[in-house]
Amino acid sequence: MCGIIGYIGPKNALPILLEGLKRMEYRGYDSAGIALISNGTLHIQKQAGKVDDLVKKIQNGGQLPEAHIGMGHTRWATHGEPNDINAHPHADCRNEIAVIHNGIIENYLAIKTKLLREGHHFVSATDTEVIAHLIEEIYKSTPNLFDAVRLAMKEVRGTYGLVVLSTREPDRIVAARMGSPLILGIGDGENIVAADAAAIIEHTRQVVYLGDGEVAELTANGVVTKTLGDVEITKEVQELTFDLEQIEKGGFLHFMLKEIHEQPETIQNSMRGRLLEEEGSVKLGGLSEVAHKIIHAPRLIFAACGTSWHAALIGEYMLEQYAHISVEVEYASEFRYRNPILNKGDVVILISQSGETADTLAALREAKAQGATVIGICNVVGSSIARESDAGVYIHAGPEIGVASTKAFTSQLIVLALLTIMIARSKGMPREKGIELVREMKLLPEKVQSILSNTKQIEYIASEFNDIKNFLYLGRGYNFPAALEGALKLKEISYIHAEGYPAAEMKHGPIALIDENMPVVFIAPHDRSYEKIMSNIQEVKARRGRVIAIVNDEEDGIRQLADYMISVPTTLDLFTPILAVIPLQLLAYYIAVSRGCNVDQPRNLAKSVTVE
Ligand code: G6P
Repeated sequence: MCGIIGYIGPKNALPILLEGLKRMEYRGYDSAGIALISNGTLHIQKQAGKVDDLVKKIQNGGQLPEAHIGMGHTRWATHGEPNDINAHPHADCRNEIAVIHNGIIENYLAIKTKLLREGHHFVSATDTEVIAHLIEEIYKSTPNLFDAVRLAMKEVRGTYGLVVLSTREPDRIVAARMGSPLILGIGDGENIVAADAAAIIEHTRQVVYLGDGEVAELTANGVVTKTLGDVEITKEVQELTFDLEQIEKGGFLHFMLKEIHEQPETIQNSMRGRLLEEEGSVKLGGLSEVAHKIIHAPRLIFAACGTSWHAALIGEYMLEQYAHISVEVEYASEFRYRNPILNKGDVVILISQSGETADTLAALREAKAQGATVIGICNVVGSSIARESDAGVYIHAGPEIGVASTKAFTSQLIVLALLTIMIARSKGMPREKGIELVREMKLLPEKVQSILSNTKQIEYIASEFNDIKNFLYLGRGYNFPAALEGALKLKEISYIHAEGYPAAEMKHGPIALIDENMPVVFIAPHDRSYEKIMSNIQEVKARRGRVIAIVNDEEDGIRQLADYMISVPTTLDLFTPILAVIPLQLLAYYIAVSRGCNVDQPRNLAKSVTVE
C-alpha cells in the first residue's frame, strides 16, 4: 500500500525517486506523484495510473527541474477517487509545503472545518491535504519545519507514514510515523526515507527503522530523530540483509512466477538450521525464551489476514492432530474489535508476511494490552509485528514482490510444522514419530521441484478454462484451507469469481450452482478423506460439472472420474497442502496471464495493507 520515498543529497533527485517508486509498485497503488524543490520553488507533478504514466507526463511537457531534494509517492486511494488531483504530494495554500502520506487521518474533517474557517483553500477530497494546511498554519508561528510537523502530528488522530518538504528550509526533509512503516536509509553525504527497504537497498544497506510517535529530520549529512514530545532519541543503525537481485525478476515474466519457482529454495531456507533429525525434534531459537509458555498454554490463538490466515488454519489442523493443543484461528480484524476473551496463559500468534498489516498489528496490540504472550511469524525482517512481538520466528522466504502471496505461504506452513513438532515432542510425541516428520520435511523441496519441473499440463488446463466466470475449490481436512487459498489466488489475479469450501459442505449450498459451466477443483490426495472426496466428485459429475483434480501420482479411482488431473507426489498428511498449493498457484497464474491480467499488480489490491 502507498509507496513513499524522499531523497536529499548531491545527486539529481528525480531518477532516484522514480526508480524508488518503481521498486515499490508491487505494494499496490492507483496514482503517483513527485515533488521537488529547486531554486526555492516547489515543483509537483502527479498522475492517476501507473508510475510509467507519470513518467510520460513528465516527458510530455510536465518537465521537472534538476533538484537535490525531493519526494515521490504512489497512492492507494482511501479518501477520494484515484485521480490526478487526489494523488499525492499535496501542497499548502502558498505552494511552499508539500506532503506525502500513507495511512488515514481519522479526525481530518474536524481539522479541515477549522482550517476552512481560518481561510485555507482545499483542492482535493483527501484526508492528507489537511496535513499540509495544518502544518502551514502552525509553521506561521513556529520557527522550523521540524517543530511544525511535530506539533501538527500531535493534533492528528489516525495512522501515518509522512514526509514533508518546505521551500523555506530546502536543505531538509521531515518524516513522521504512526502505524505506517518508514525506514531511513543512511548514506554517505545523502539520505533517503522510504516506506520500504526495496527502495533503499540500491543506495545503502545502513538503515534506521522509525518507530511510532517518532519524527525524523534528514539533511544530506545527518539524521536526527525525536519523539512527538521533542525528546531526542538515539536509534540503532541496522543492516539490510537481502540482495538487489532478490527483488528483481531474474529472467521470469512476472515476480509471481519467479516466486512460485523459488519455493524449493525458500522452503529449504525456512527449515535451515532448525531440524534436529537425530532427536526427532526442532530448534526455534527465536522462541527459546517463551517456549515453556507456548508448551503449557491452554490455548493458542492465531490472528492473521488473507493468505496468512489460510496458513493459520492449516496450522490449527497440524497442532491439534500432533500436539494435542487447543487452537483458535481468528481474522485479525475481527479479533481486534470483538472484545476477545483471553484466558490466563493463552498465547497469541500473529502470522504476517509483511509484518505491517494494520489489522494484524492492531490484534497484536490488543492481545498485549490484555497481558497475553504474543509471538510473531513474519517474513519481513525488522517489520512492526516482528519488533512488537514478545518473541518470534522469521520464515526466511526472502522479499515477496508479487501481490498474490505464494512462497511466503509455503514457508509459513513450514514454520507452523516446525512449531507443531516442537510442541508435540515436549508433550510426549515419540522420538520416532518426530524423526519421521523431520525426514519427510527434508524431502519437500525436492518434491516441490518435481511439480515445478513439469507445468505443461497445468498450462493446458489454464488455457481450457480462461473464459470461465466462476470456479469452485473443494478439499477436506488439511486441504480445505488449501482450497480456500487456491480460490483466493484465482480471484486475486484473474478476477474470476472463485470460492473455496470444505468438500462435504458442497451439498449444503454450492451444489445448487453446479452445471457444465462451473468447474470444480478438487484437492484429493490419497489421505484418510480419499473415499469421501471420491463421493463428492461423483456428486459433481452427476450434475455435469467439470472436475479438475489434484491427485497423488498413483491415483486410479479419480482417474476415471476427473476431466483433468494434476499429479503431486505423496507426503505425510500435514504436508499435503504444501504440495497441493503449487499447482493451484500455477493454475491461477496461467489463467490470469492468458486473460491478459496484470499478475504482479492486480487491480485494487495492495501487498502490504497498512490501513484497517
Ligand atoms: C494483502 C495481500 C495478501 C496477504 C494479506 C495479509 O491482502 O494482498 O497477499 O495475504 O494482505 O498480508 P500479510 O503481510 O499480513 O501476510
